[in-house]
Amino acid sequence: MPRIELLSWEDARAEASRIRFKVFVEEQGVPREIELDAIDPQCIHALAFEDGRPVGTGRLLPDGHIGRMAVLEDWRGRGVGSGILESLIRKARERGEAEVVLSAQVHAVPFYKRHGFKAMGEIYEEARIPHRTMRLPL
Ligand SMILES: CC(C)(COP(=O)(O)OP(=O)(O)OC[C@H]1O[C@@H](n2cnc3c(N)ncnc32)[C@H](O)[C@@H]1OP(=O)(O)O)[C@@H](O)C(=O)NCCC(=O)NCCS
Repeated sequence: MPRIELLSWEDARAEASRIRFKVFVEEQGVPREIELDAIDPQCIHALAFEDGRPVGTGRLLPDGHIGRMAVLEDWRGRGVGSGILESLIRKARERGEAEVVLSAQVHAVPFYKRHGFKAMGEIYEEARIPHRTMRLPL
């Protein structure tokens, strides 16, 4: 099981940006300039560690959205993404959010469904990648 830490942007920034850059910019071709945005300093950031090394990240926005879920390719399918997602959901629940919402890449919809999220509405494109809104009432 990965060790998950919930951190401020200041503390997560170096490692979270490195992981996000590898996954979203290098692997998925998302433009570098939309990968980092002005909301990061207001978010709670999860970092997942395996053997002491950061291998995954995700963030909880002030409005209860979860986003920027990314696990380094070599570490996928071992529960790292689930650990990150569950920590962020727990945090949102503690904070009194009524629900968490996310914009899922369509390929990852089954992953979020396993955690209780339900898909809503139509598929839409963001950064040329098909997405679908998903919600989890808390
Ligand atoms: C989506 C992501 C965060 C999941 O992290 P992960 O560490 O692989 O997830 P876990 O190991 O906890 O869970 C994996 C489970 O979800 C399923 N799953 C994960 N990614 C999936 C995908 N792209 N399509 C279908 N199922 C997927 C796996 O089949 C696995 O189920 P299993 O345990 O029965 O084999 C990771 O695949 C990732 O970083 N992908 C690239 C970036 C991305 O697309 N982020 C999501 C943006 S919305």
